[in-house]
Amino acid sequence: MQNKFYVTTPIYYVNAEPHIGHAYTTILADFLKRFYTMKGYDAYFLTGTDEHGDKILKAAQENGSTPQEFTDRISVKFRQTWKDMDLRFDDFIRTTEERHKKVVQKVLQRVYDNGDIYFGSYGGYYCVGCERFLTEKDMVDGKCPDHNTKLDYIEESNYFFRMAKYQGWLIDHIEKNPEFIRPERYRNEVLSLLKHEALEDLCISRPKARSPWGIPLPFDEKYVTYVWFDALINYVSAIGYPDDNKFSEFWPVAHHLIAKDIVKPHGVFWPTMLKAAGIEPFLHLNVHGYWNMDDAKMSKSLGNVVRPLDLVNKFGSDQIRYFFLREMTFGLDAKFSEDAIVNRINYDLANDLGNLVKRAFNMIEKYFNGEVPAFDQSAPSGRDVIREKFRTAVKGYFSSIDHFHFSTGLERLWEFVRFLNKYIDDTKPWQLAKDNRTVELSSTLRNLLESIAALSVLLSPVLTVSSTAIARALGEDISFASEDQITSLALLKDGSRISDIGILFPRLEREAVQPEAGKPEVKKMEQKQEAVKADAGDGLVDISEFGKIDIRVAQVLEASAIEGSDKLLELKVDSGLDTRVIIAGIAQHYAADYLLGKKILLVANLKPATLFKRKSYGMLLAAKKEKRDKPVLIEVDQSIPVGARLS
Ligand code: ME8
Ligand code: MG
Repeated sequence: MQNKFYVTTPIYYVNAEPHIGHAYTTILADFLKRFYTMKGYDAYFLTGTDEHGDKILKAAQENGSTPQEFTDRISVKFRQTWKDMDLRFDDFIRTTEERHKKVVQKVLQRVYDNGDIYFGSYGGYYCVGCERFLTEKDMVDGKCPDHNTKLDYIEESNYFFRMAKYQGWLIDHIEKNPEFIRPERYRNEVLSLLKHEALEDLCISRPKARSPWGIPLPFDEKYVTYVWFDALINYVSAIGYPDDNKFSEFWPVAHHLIAKDIVKPHGVFWPTMLKAAGIEPFLHLNVHGYWNMDDAKMSKSLGNVVRPLDLVNKFGSDQIRYFFLREMTFGLDAKFSEDAIVNRINYDLANDLGNLVKRAFNMIEKYFNGEVPAFDQSAPSGRDVIREKFRTAVKGYFSSIDHFHFSTGLERLWEFVRFLNKYIDDTKPWQLAKDNRTVELSSTLRNLLESIAALSVLLSPVLTVSSTAIARALGEDISFASEDQITSLALLKDGSRISDIGILFPRLEREAVQPEAGKPEVKKMEQKQEAVKADAGDGLVDISEFGKIDIRVAQVLEASAIEGSDKLLELKVDSGLDTRVIIAGIAQHYAADYLLGKKILLVANLKPATLFKRKSYGMLLAAKKEKRDKPVLIEVDQSIPVGARLS
C-alpha cells in the first residue's frame, strides 16, 4: 500500500490578516507535502481559519461588520495569500462551515453520552486574546504576558469536560511514545505540567447570552461551544470523521504543526478530547519557536507584523522559503531580519548554489556547445567519491526531514553543493580544456551536470521555481524514484541540448535593500549596541559591562584570501544568529582551508569595521604572548554548539 502522510497547520484566527508567522508554518506544511509527494507518498495538507469566539466577534464589531461578513472577508485573505504564494493545500477548512459544525456536535454528543461532560460553575481570569482562562501563575501583574492585556474575572455556570480523568492516561501515552510531542523540550514542558499540577476539568461552553458567536451545544441550546473545543476538531472534521475514507487513511499519520504559543491546547486538551470521544491520538505534535523582531514575538496584537506577500515580492518566493527553512532551528526561536535574508540569499543561494549551476552551464556551453558531454569510464574524474558524498548528503537530508530538522536537512545538501564548487576549483576544467584533456573534461562536466540535475529534484520541495527552471534548462523531466536512482549520476542523456539558465539568484546589495515606508524596520546590529563604558581607573570592569560583549561560538563556513592583501582572510561564519562575513588578520599564519569547519570564538556585537574595502561584522579571538608572536586562534571543541555564548 502507498505510504501516507497528513500534515496540518493551526487554523488561524481571522481577527486580523496573515503575517509571516502564519506564513512560516504554512510554508513548512507545503514543503512537507511536496517533500513526501516527491518521495512517492500520498500526502495531504490541511489549513484553514478559526472563526468563532469572543475575539472574532469583538474584531467584527470594531470593524462595523457582522461576524459572518467579517470572517468571510478575512478568511478569503488567508486563502488567497496562500494561493498567491503557491502553497498547495488540499483543503481549507473554515469552522463556520456546516461540515465542521456537524462533526463538532457529533463529538460533543458522544463525549456527553459517555458521561464526560457535566454542568457546573466556574470563576477565572479570561484572556480573550488566548481565548482561555489563565491561572494566577500564568499571569504577570494581573495581565496576560502574551497579549499584555488586563484580564477580567468571569464567573458563570457552564458545561465542563472531565479532562482531569485522562491525566494519567496522557502521561502514560507521552512516556510510551517519546516522539508524540517533539522536539523534546516541548514534550518535557507538557510532561512536567502534567506531573506537577492536577489537571482541571475544561470549561467547554459559553452562555449564548454573553457570547453568541459559536456552535450551539447539541444538548443545551442556551450555550455555544468554547472556541478551542470547536477549533481543534477541524483536524478530523476536514477529513470526514467518522465515515469518510480520508479519515481512515490519513488520521493514523497525522502530523500537527504549531508554534509554542498553543502547546497546551494541542498537547493536553486535544489528546484527552480524542480519548474521550474514542478516537485514536494523532501521530505527532510538532512544535516550532517564534520568529522575533528584535526581542519581541511578532504578533497581530503587538502590531509589529510583516506581510508575507510583501516579503515574497521583495525577495522572491524560493528565497523566502529557503530562508524560513534554513534559518530557524525547528523548536527554537529565530530572529527575523532583512539582513539575515540578504545573507542567506547572497551566500547560500547566489554564491553556493547559483554559482555552481552557472559555472557548470557556462563550461558546457563553452567547451561542448551546450551539449551534455559523455562520461568516459577511462577517466572517471572522481565519480565514486562524488557519488559517496552525494549518498551521505541525501541520507542526511532525508533523515533530518523525517525528524523535522529542516535546517540541518538543507545544510546536508549544501555541504554537497559546497563540495561540488570545490570539485570545480580542484579539477580546474579550464586547465583540462587548455591541455586538450578532453576525455577528463568531458567526464568532469558530466559529473557536475548529473549532480545538479539530481539536486534540482531533491530541492524541488523548497526551491519550487528554480528547480523547475533548472529542469527546463536541462530539457529533462526527472522525478525521484529511489535514493540509489537519484544519486546514481546517470539521469541525463549524452548529447542532449541544454539551454541558457540565466541568473537563478541575483546577489543583493545590502544598501539597496531599504525598508519601505510603513513597514517595521529591522534594526541593525550597530544601532543596538551601547558603547562599553570605560573602567573607573582601577583596570577593572563591572560584570554588567563584560556582559555587554557578546562572545559566542561560531563556525567557519568559508574562508578565502583577499586579493592584494597578504594579511587578511575573508571568512564566512555561522554565528548562530546569522551567517556573516568577518575579515581576520591571520592570513600569514593560517591557510584558508585549515579554517573550514572550525569552531572559533566570535565577538558578535562589535561595530562593523571596513578593512580593505570590505565590511567585517565582528572579530574572531586569537591569543599571543608577545606582540610579534604568531597569534594562536582560539579553537573551540566541536561538541559546543554554534551560537553558544561565553558567560
Ligand atoms: O492560535 N512565529 O491562531 P493564531 C512563528 N486559532 N509562528 C507564528 C508566529 C510567530 N511570531 N505568530 C503566529 C490560533 N505564528 C488558533 C489555532 S488550531 C486548532 C487553533 C503561527 O492566528 C504559529 O503556527 O493565533 C502559531 O501557532 C499560529 O500562527 C497561531 O495562529
Ligand atoms: Mg495567536
